Amino acid sequence: MNYVFITRKILDPAEKMLRAKGYQVKVYPGDQIIPRDELLKGVKGASAILSLLTDRIDEGVLQAAGPQLKIVANYAVGFDNIDLEAAKRHGVVVTNTPHEKVTEAVAELTFALVIGLARRIAESDKFAKAEKYHGWSPTLLIGAGLPGKTIGIIGAGRIGASAAAMGVKGFGMKLVYSDMKSNPEIEKELGAKKVSMQKLLQISDFVSLHVPLLPSTRHLISTKELALMKKTAFLINTARGPVVDEKALLKALAAKKIAGAGLDVFECEPAIDCDVRDQLELKKFPNVILTPHTASATIESRQAMSETAAKNIIAVLSGKKPLNPTK
Ligand code: GLV
Ligand code: GLV
Repeated sequence: MNYVFITRKILDPAEKMLRAKGYQVKVYPGDQIIPRDELLKGVKGASAILSLLTDRIDEGVLQAAGPQLKIVANYAVGFDNIDLEAAKRHGVVVTNTPHEKVTEAVAELTFALVIGLARRIAESDKFAKAEKYHGWSPTLLIGAGLPGKTIGIIGAGRIGASAAAMGVKGFGMKLVYSDMKSNPEIEKELGAKKVSMQKLLQISDFVSLHVPLLPSTRHLISTKELALMKKTAFLINTARGPVVDEKALLKALAAKKIAGAGLDVFECEPAIDCDVRDQLELKKFPNVILTPHTASATIESRQAMSETAAKNIIAVLSGKKPLNPTK
């Protein structure tokens, strides 16, 4: 009988779908990131692992599972937590969950950060709750308007394009993008212009990152790139923390080289700051909005991820092609 190990409780319907197939399904019961030893124990004998982005799936895990393992279905769009080379060596398929509901959810939070930064929502909330508001003022908490401003997306895949569409269609923003590939659809539908990343950084009022974490995108945004940005521009990262060199960002914020940042992901996650000894901390900047990697956290998105992961497992265990292979 096929045994499926799920590394943490997730939303329906994955478990039900897998049980309906007659598979033996075990879910790690702890409401925490599964400890390594529990992961190694849990995967033993599994035909499929439903993993989370917080699980490191490497040679050790694949070996602990055994030769019957056929698929690792990652409950995420990103899959930088998985050693793809090792999976290939073991003949294990790796899948992700690039469902349109996930795209919508991540795009939505990306845009919430855009508006939140432009209109200083987090600062305003803090101000009002601290009972500092003593009457309407012509200059209180003035922000920037969006119409006519330029949003630059680095990585014009589904999520970047969806976030950009909100800016263009909803707020009359201009759109530029940089990517290895052209995206003719957003050029046609959103009037997007493809430019070099350097140019994008120079002309954008909002720079939003939508690239996967790869050796080539680690610290893609560092001192040199931040220096190219306008002093009035904001950086938004809902992709992966290490795409931004956090130390460089902190220095740029401290020197007011950029106007602020909206971050859903962190270089040393789950730590918000890699190193607090340097006295520079993201949480100390009022012009920085932090969300704890919740971009895909809507019921609709998390259910779609659950269904997608289960569908991939069922396909592979039935000898069919996976729906969302990572390559
Ligand atoms: C979340 O970060 C995801 O990759 O789905
Ligand atoms: C994810 O779905 C992407 O392609 O950006």
